[in-house]
Amino acid sequence: MSLYVSKRLEAIASLVEEGSIVADIGADHGSLTIGLIKSGKCKKVFAVENKKGPYSRLKQNVSSAGVLDDVELSLSDGIECLPQYCDTLVLAGMGGLLIKNIIENHKNKLVNIKTIIIDPHREDRLIYQYLASMGYKMEDSVFLKEKNIYYCVSKWIQNDKEVIYSEEELEYGPIGIHTKDNMWKEWIANKIETNRRIMENSDIPDSLRKELVNKNQFMEELIK
Ligand SMILES: C[S@@+](CC[C@H](N)C(=O)[O-])C[C@H]1O[C@@H](n2cnc3c(N)ncnc32)[C@H](O)[C@@H]1O
Repeated sequence: MSLYVSKRLEAIASLVEEGSIVADIGADHGSLTIGLIKSGKCKKVFAVENKKGPYSRLKQNVSSAGVLDDVELSLSDGIECLPQYCDTLVLAGMGGLLIKNIIENHKNKLVNIKTIIIDPHREDRLIYQYLASMGYKMEDSVFLKEKNIYYCVSKWIQNDKEVIYSEEELEYGPIGIHTKDNMWKEWIANKIETNRRIMENSDIPDSLRKELVNKNQFMEELIK
């Protein structure tokens, strides 16, 4: 049986390096935090929630799982209280804009962060561009489908300088667009279908329709 409540969290855990010290930002139910400790992948996790309700649940779950001694819990905003001992950030299950704001608000805390693992549920292009501008490079990405929803989980590694990606790499995934594996193709096909559904609405402006037609033509070529 898996240690994680979902395939998505399992994919995130697969990108965590053995022996790293993770800060699980927006840890919520704590499934990732608990699984990382129980699997032996991490000896310590810093788990953060910024709301009292989810924080209490997190504390309760970490305690019931018997891993309270290995987890530092924090009721705080994003990476504001990030301890220097953390080398990896996980920001999962949020929009790309929120991930960006959480990092940007306290970016001075990033000095020891070698790895950032993200699972943006929207605005992926925005967060890719931001991480690249902050000097992080996408090292790995996993595409998956769970309960009819497509996800792209990615791992970013600190680079010496700003990373420059093309418009297409930012839009369709800096790694996926080159490796073109089957799950990436499904992920792109799902984007085409979503655009088609938007275009079924006769009220959308001509400019948007034109943009979506062009994007779909481009994506259809990509997955041929
Ligand atoms: C949808 S849940 C995702 C939970 C888990 N990371 C996952 O991927 O399954 C997002 C969580 O992030 C928390 N959150 C949102 N903004 C935050 C912030 N600035 N600092 C800490 N936690 C935050 C929310 O309270 C919520 O519990």
